[in-house]
Amino acid sequence: FSLKDHHTFHLDVYANFKASIAQPEDLEELFNTPKYKNKKKLVLGGGSNLLFTRNFLGMVIKMEIKGIKVEEEGGDSVLVSFGAGENWHQCVLWAIEDGYGGIENLSLIPGTVGAAPMQNIGAYGVEIKEVFHSLEAYEVKTGKIVRFYKEDCKFGYRYSIFKGPRRDKYIITKVYLRLSKKPEYNISYGNLKETLEAMGVEELNLKDVSQAVIDIRQSKLPDPAQIGNAGSFFKNPMVTNDYFDALRAAFRKIPGFPVDDRHTKVPAAWLIDQSGWKGHRRGAIGVHDKQALVLVNHGGGDGKDLLQLSKDIQESVYKKFGVQLEPEVNVV
Ligand code: EPU
Repeated sequence: FSLKDHHTFHLDVYANFKASIAQPEDLEELFNTPKYKNKKKLVLGGGSNLLFTRNFLGMVIKMEIKGIKVEEEGGDSVLVSFGAGENWHQCVLWAIEDGYGGIENLSLIPGTVGAAPMQNIGAYGVEIKEVFHSLEAYEVKTGKIVRFYKEDCKFGYRYSIFKGPRRDKYIITKVYLRLSKKPEYNISYGNLKETLEAMGVEELNLKDVSQAVIDIRQSKLPDPAQIGNAGSFFKNPMVTNDYFDALRAAFRKIPGFPVDDRHTKVPAAWLIDQSGWKGHRRGAIGVHDKQALVLVNHGGGDGKDLLQLSKDIQESVYKKFGVQLEPEVNVV
C-alpha cells in the first residue's frame, strides 16, 4: 500500500496493510481480528506531521470517522463534536460559516481533527487547548471508548499526554470544542493586525481574520499539494533568561518571546536562517526559501536524506548558538 498520497512529505514509502476506520466500532473489529492483532499499527490522519524514513512494516489505520454536531447550545457558547477523521480546515470553515469563534486563527493548518489535540496545534497566538473541551478515544488495551477532559490531556506547547505517556495507547475518535457565539479576536501575533489593515478590514469578523491568517500562511508556507513538507520541522526551543541574555550579547538581533518568569522562547526559524540554511538544497530535499523552519521534498526525495539534513541543521545550530533543536514532526 503506497503511503505517498497519505502524508504531506509525499515520500515514496509503503505499508504492508491498510485499514479504513469509518466508525469507532471498526476499531474494535480490527483489534479483534487475529491476523492483524499483533501487527504494528500506525494511525494516519492527514499525515501532515510525519516523516517516514523507510517503509512501514505493519498496518496503517486511516482515520475516516466523520461528523460535525452541535451537542449543546446555551448562553454565549456552543459545544460541538467533530469526528476525528474530519479535515481540520473544513471544520474551521464550518465554524466560521455558522458564526462560532475560537479557531479562526487556526485556519489552513493541514491535517485532521483527531491529530489536532495530540500535539495541541497552535498558530497566530492561539492553541487548540483554549477551546478544547474533551475527546473520546479507543483504548487499545481494553477496547473501550474513554473520555478525556481538558485537564486530563496535560496540554503544553505542541504537547499532550498522547504524545507522551499515553502514546500509542489510545486512538482519538471524536473531539469536543467549546466555541463562542460572541467571538473575541486575537490579532496580536506577528503581522496579523497589519495584514487585516492592508485588507481594508474595519470591523473585525471571523471570515476576515481567517482570510488574513490564510494569506500570511500562503505567503510563507509551501502548499503540501505542490511541495512536500510537514510545516515546522522543529519546535521553537526554550532557553533560560540568563542564557537568552548571553545570546543577545553575542547576537544583538536575536528575537525572543517570554514564556514565564525564567524562560524565553527563541524562534527556531531565526536560528536556522542565521546558520545559513534558508533555501539550501541537497538534491530533491531542502530548506524552504521563505521559512527556514520548513524542510521540503521537491519531489523524489528520500526520508533518510531528510532526516540527515535535519541532523546537520541541529548540529550547526548547536555549534553556533549552543541551543538544541528538537523535532516537531514524528519520525517513523
Ligand atoms: N524567522 C526568520 N527566518 C525565517 C522565518 C522566520 O528569522 O525564515 C523569524 C522571524 O523573526 C519571525 C520568527 O522567526 O518573527 C517567527 O516566525 P513565524 O511567525 O513564521 O513563526 P514560527 O515560530 O517559525 C510558529 C509555529 C507555526 C505557526 C507559526 C505562526 C512552531 C514550531 N511553529 O512558527 O506552526 O504557523 O508560529 O503562529 O511553533 C507547525 O507547527 O507546523 C507550524 C507551521
